[in-house]
Amino acid sequence: MSRDAETDDSGDVRSRDGGGLDRRPHPPGDASVRLGIDVGGTSIKGSIVDVEAGRLTRHVLVEPTPPTATPGDVAAATRRIAAAMQWTGPVGIALPGMISGSSLRHAPNLCASWEQADALSWLRAPNGGNAVLINDADAVGLAELVYGGAGLDDSGLTIVLTFGTGIGSALLHNGSLISDSELGGLSGVAGRFEEVASGRVISTEALTPVEWAGRAQPFFDELQAILNPSRWVVGGGLSDDFERFLSKLELSRPISVARGGMHAGIVGAAVACGTGLGAGNSSSP
Ligand code: BGC
Repeated sequence: MSRDAETDDSGDVRSRDGGGLDRRPHPPGDASVRLGIDVGGTSIKGSIVDVEAGRLTRHVLVEPTPPTATPGDVAAATRRIAAAMQWTGPVGIALPGMISGSSLRHAPNLCASWEQADALSWLRAPNGGNAVLINDADAVGLAELVYGGAGLDDSGLTIVLTFGTGIGSALLHNGSLISDSELGGLSGVAGRFEEVASGRVISTEALTPVEWAGRAQPFFDELQAILNPSRWVVGGGLSDDFERFLSKLELSRPISVARGGMHAGIVGAAVACGTGLGAGNSSSP
């Protein structure tokens, strides 16, 4: 397990909004803090989140996603993160696929056994606490809704896209999250956009920003034509390279980086614990 390398001179890890870390132990039962964990195709990251302030209160702990990425492997990693944080309270877990009953569908970056019935039961929270499961892009959208510019007073449609191992999507409409969209699965002439323009493809094919934009532009154009968003928000790995890549797109609507940047999925997962969004595990997993 490693720490996220987002440190200041004193070695403190700081949240994206510049707030310092809270080193005090959280009192048991403190409803303002929850553990958020973001499961990705390459890493599993977690931190304790102050959901009133929308900020991380601890170092982000990072576990590499095991090559097999079975439900058991991923559950073990989430438990190690919870144990390292000495956390026994509510946990929100963001997953890179569509949560469907007790299975995870459309999760090409994890192993096929996630599709089996009861696969999600592996993610029962450590020490019998409650876990709430949410799609990873929906978690970013939820964080944007609660803390970002697409708040409750916002009108129109905001499309949130996360460019990481895959391409995730969340739709925010008139202050609500419309969950479970899978827009990265749309296809263009070169194939499914997720397979030709994700953050992972940028690395594996060493795409330049201009080459990436050539592949991503038809994706944005298609979504603009079909859904007519008034604003775009980008999260996932690409949010750290926003200027270099996103500036190459030609868009008629404003685009911004998700407020929580790379850690928005962790924050959104923690928020999901208290909102009734996502799939609770008190009865299923
Ligand atoms: C999955 C989505 C997920 C996205 C980003 C896609 O492969 O189908 O559910 O949000 O990857 O992880």
